[in-house]
Amino acid sequence: MARVSAPDFWQELYERGADGWELGTPAPPLVNFIETTPPPHGRVAVLGCGRGHDARYLARHGYETVGFDFSTAALHQARALAEREGLAVTFTQRDILALGRDRAPAFDGVWEYTCFCAIDPRHRPEYVTTLNAILKPGGWLLACFYPVRRGGAGPPFPVARSEVRRLLHPSFRIERAFTPRSVPRRQGQEWMVMARRIEGP
Ligand SMILES: C[S@@+](CC[C@H](N)C(=O)[O-])C[C@H]1O[C@@H](n2cnc3c(N)ncnc32)[C@H](O)[C@@H]1O
Repeated sequence: MARVSAPDFWQELYERGADGWELGTPAPPLVNFIETTPPPHGRVAVLGCGRGHDARYLARHGYETVGFDFSTAALHQARALAEREGLAVTFTQRDILALGRDRAPAFDGVWEYTCFCAIDPRHRPEYVTTLNAILKPGGWLLACFYPVRRGGAGPPFPVARSEVRRLLHPSFRIERAFTPRSVPRRQGQEWMVMARRIEGP
């Protein structure tokens, strides 16, 4: 599993077009949520942003968006797409698990989609540490967890609702959780969560 923690693993998949996760469009659960119940505007981090379709969508809807990924190939294309559309989105090459070390809580919101399932599951507690470090108290986490299923190899590594609840407790309060409408091949295997970082020390 250590291989997924190396940028080269993802870089190589992008380079040879083995990017089976690519939708080529913003994720439907994100689009539906923003169209119906948009979270407050502000500075939003998109973790493991890939080619940045979700990051650009958020920027088009008035969010100040920063996409993080550690594949230069993905970020190169993300920047080109944003430039073509005249969108001001920042794309930064970083290991998202290291973000908390050098950034004060700088974000009002986080959008998560298919990054949680891409990291080695042993690092999931660190992922939550990153969320806590980069989100301002009271900041929002909008996450669409995938694939919600039992067992199987990864990536994508399976996700269980109970595990997410356990990891987010006690630093986050889940305000909404539901199965979103999605692309046919993922329908029923996704879990949308809106959570708030609890205000505190
Ligand atoms: C399955 S892809 C999903 C990309 C994008 N979210 C999408 O839906 O198209 C996972 C992405 O997370 C990135 N990634 C995985 N682990 C990462 C880490 N520790 N830090 C930064 N990016 C990471 C990969 O480079 C890849 O672009």
